[in-house]
Amino acid sequence: MLREKIDSLLAQVEALQAEQAVEAEELRIRFLGKKGSITQLFDEFKTVPPEQKRELGQLINDLKNRATEKINTIKEQAGEAEQKQSALDSTLPGDALPLGAQHPISITRSEIIQIFSRLGYSVLDGPEVEDDWHVFGALNFAPEHPARDMQDTFFITSGDNPVILRTHTSSVQVRAMERMKPPIRILCPGRVFRNEAISARAHCIFHQVEGLYVDENVSFADLKQSILLFAQEMFGQGAQIRLRPSYFPFTEPSAEVDVSCNICKGKGCNICKGTGWLEIMGAGMVDPNVLEACGIDSAKYTGFAFGMGVERIAMLKWQIKDLRLYFENDVRFLRQFEAV
Ligand code: PHE
Repeated sequence: MLREKIDSLLAQVEALQAEQAVEAEELRIRFLGKKGSITQLFDEFKTVPPEQKRELGQLINDLKNRATEKINTIKEQAGEAEQKQSALDSTLPGDALPLGAQHPISITRSEIIQIFSRLGYSVLDGPEVEDDWHVFGALNFAPEHPARDMQDTFFITSGDNPVILRTHTSSVQVRAMERMKPPIRILCPGRVFRNEAISARAHCIFHQVEGLYVDENVSFADLKQSILLFAQEMFGQGAQIRLRPSYFPFTEPSAEVDVSCNICKGKGCNICKGTGWLEIMGAGMVDPNVLEACGIDSAKYTGFAFGMGVERIAMLKWQIKDLRLYFENDVRFLRQFEAV
């Protein structure tokens, strides 16, 4: 009797199948639960004559082990199938892709362009690989003029009009004046190259935005007012500017422009080195020689020009202490501009 029951249960166990984990659990209860059919065999086993105990006991144990093994496998398979199904659930909400941030140089350049476009300036692009004429010659640098040393040039060819990397975007202004008739009101953003040792304060590649306004009766007062408006838009309405006499071959008179320190509000701190002022750009009235070299009548027209480093403006805006951070692309630095 018991032997037949064992055989029939074993056959049932071998034939077991289940579609879902819940069904597999039901099977476990049916066979191996407290009142399960295999568990009940153990009660019956108590009545087995002693000489058969060894053999039948072995068979029941085998049956129990086999059933446990089989049901566990079924459970696992059903679980996996369910998981696969949920991976295909097209109604689940999607994972959001992480968003990148704009580079602080791009943010600052756009802001500078926005401010000046409200004053009627349009943006002009030009080549990074230039000739000597557009970078120096047309801008009133005499061939052996020591001022060429102000900008350490990368040369690509040598000779009379060597091919060089532009050291400033004033070259784009030359190209504009050669082609356009006044009024000219342009902004020239772009990369520039100077042969300098890389440090926290200098890099051999950086970004500039230069501006040019040429028309009848353009005055130094116009220059001052335009730059004041820029400084207040960029650094806050309370910003003040001051102009210090300076020298550039292409402007006369020339000035370095300082803005009142936005950290200490002019009281003096370690950012402005105690002076209350921060240098932001060079500027001046376009030298008549430059206008003539570009085919513009200097008796009829005057103009002003200005040029600033985008890295420097961004440094002052966010108190970035090391220029090299802009070029390293360390995401821990770049992430800080996500919300800007
Ligand atoms: N071109 C100058 C520079 O690169 C900046 C400048 C532009 C100065 C226009 C005066 C007028 O340093």
